[in-house]
Amino acid sequence: MCGIIGYIGKRQAYPILLEGLQRLEYRGYDSAGIATVDDAHGTTTITTHKDKGRVDVLKQYSSVGTMGIGHTRWATHGVPSTVNAHPHLDCSSSIVVTHNGIIENFRELKENLSGHHFRSQTDSEVIAHLIEQHYKGDLHHAVMHIIPMLKGTYGLCVLHKNKRELVVARNGSPIVLGIGSGEQFVASDAAALLPHTKQVIYLDDFETGVVAENGMKIFNKNNQLVTKEIKTVAWDVEMGQKHGYKHFMIKEIHEQAQVVRDSLSIAVDIPLLNQTAEPKVKKLFIVACGTAAYAGLIGKYVIEQVARVPVEFDIASEFRYKNPIIEKGDILLAISQSGETADTLAAVSLAKQKGASTIGIVNVMDSTIARIVDYVIYTRAGPEIGVASTKAFMSQLIVLYKIAEQLSGTALGLEQLPLLVEEVLKKDAAIREIAKKYALVYNFIFIGRNLSYPLALEGALKMKEISYIHAEGYAAGEMKHGPIALVTDDVPCVAIAPRDSVYDKMVSNIEEIRARRGKVIAIASEGDHAIQKYCEDVIFIPRINDVLTPFLAIVPLQLLAYHIADLRNCDIDKPRNLAKSVTVE
Ligand code: M6R
Repeated sequence: MCGIIGYIGKRQAYPILLEGLQRLEYRGYDSAGIATVDDAHGTTTITTHKDKGRVDVLKQYSSVGTMGIGHTRWATHGVPSTVNAHPHLDCSSSIVVTHNGIIENFRELKENLSGHHFRSQTDSEVIAHLIEQHYKGDLHHAVMHIIPMLKGTYGLCVLHKNKRELVVARNGSPIVLGIGSGEQFVASDAAALLPHTKQVIYLDDFETGVVAENGMKIFNKNNQLVTKEIKTVAWDVEMGQKHGYKHFMIKEIHEQAQVVRDSLSIAVDIPLLNQTAEPKVKKLFIVACGTAAYAGLIGKYVIEQVARVPVEFDIASEFRYKNPIIEKGDILLAISQSGETADTLAAVSLAKQKGASTIGIVNVMDSTIARIVDYVIYTRAGPEIGVASTKAFMSQLIVLYKIAEQLSGTALGLEQLPLLVEEVLKKDAAIREIAKKYALVYNFIFIGRNLSYPLALEGALKMKEISYIHAEGYAAGEMKHGPIALVTDDVPCVAIAPRDSVYDKMVSNIEEIRARRGKVIAIASEGDHAIQKYCEDVIFIPRINDVLTPFLAIVPLQLLAYHIADLRNCDIDKPRNLAKSVTVE
């Protein structure tokens, strides 16, 4: 959460920082700010522009200077407002700080700092004042001095008006350094640097750095110089464009047939999961958050059904605090698009501490989770910009199915999927027509059984996060244990009812809803004309083996949520209160 950008070089910093913040906006967008240092006229001054709202609010300003830092915020402490927006200055307006993360002991630190004037309610501002207190002409030294005082997480980028350098530090929140020629960059995500450079260095926890225009130095926590590997970012700037689509989300939904095609070539042959040697895998743990968790839940069902290997599934935020029984010899699979989700990362660290082996299914190269797991499998979704996760889910499913294939030694027929996903995507216009009938409702219910149960959860999540319609996902069999009380003629129900082993049960559940005047939109298998009798609307998907249904049924759920949100004029790629990468707990 929160995006940080920094620039030092010969070009004007403001437009570079502004463009970088636009690329980082998916990390948070309730306020934004830029500070630059103007040293062209003998005296050096810091100019700061910040405002509540989206990064675009900064377009009305400009400032002079070839060094600066910027920030786009997702509020944790202090409401979204101009004063709470970063960057934060010290009392003398000489030091300016951008921070991503949470300083848990900021109140205590603030109380111990006498004579300082605080302007904001944020936890972050205390860092600027602490550095001011301990600055004796060496900015890196002052940062190193105050770091042990901070409890919590931080990605930091700091500058002093009289120093031609950016000082960075990391603990729990990502910091990436971009290498240019006669200019250098700082960001919280390598994708933000793509217009300028693909050569990057990822800071590890407890490392700090001094970035000057002709190079950078990285230090470990003992203040010793370290040599870091320079990595090349695999993505292109092109991949992060909308290409004529109205939103990134709809573009990303339509990319899914290609994502499946690309993902089929992922080699999943994990030594840890080798079932032909001893010890064989006895049990797996899957942890993730949000959409990645629902992919994980489908993974659990498929691995258990196909490979007969037990899988424990947990939402990462629950796993980390429930004192899980996981030990040496166990294997934890962590799924994350961003590779930076704080709870998933903490779950991995906990599993490692307890001696378990860890595997990451991650989309962003060299992200934190990718770097700390014992074995990483990269999904091939490409950059996912829309806050609502779509194509990453598809790619995560492919990897999970490939794991089921490895564990069972059985091929699941994944190669037929790209063409079939394309078929479903052709229903886009028809689904928009259906969406028009439901765009004004206040509540939705999603139901499914077996593999379609996690899809019901995901369908409801998509609907609520982008359209703000209250939506609940249930296992269809649970309806009569409570939720059916919600059914009325203005609470539509989306029933995922392909012709699979639980089809008849689903039809009974649909009938029960109809008997209570509920309107049903069914996702059903082509040729199932019978279901049309019980349902208001039916979206047909091609018939396929039961186990592969989620790949096809997810697409209408995504499209329905998208079109309803679009018809309601929602800000689909940047839904309120959300950020794509949840790097705080
Ligand atoms: O980057 P991750 O996959 O770890 O993110 C997990 C969730 O935050 C994410 O899937 C979230 O639920 C999406 N907004 C759902 O569309």
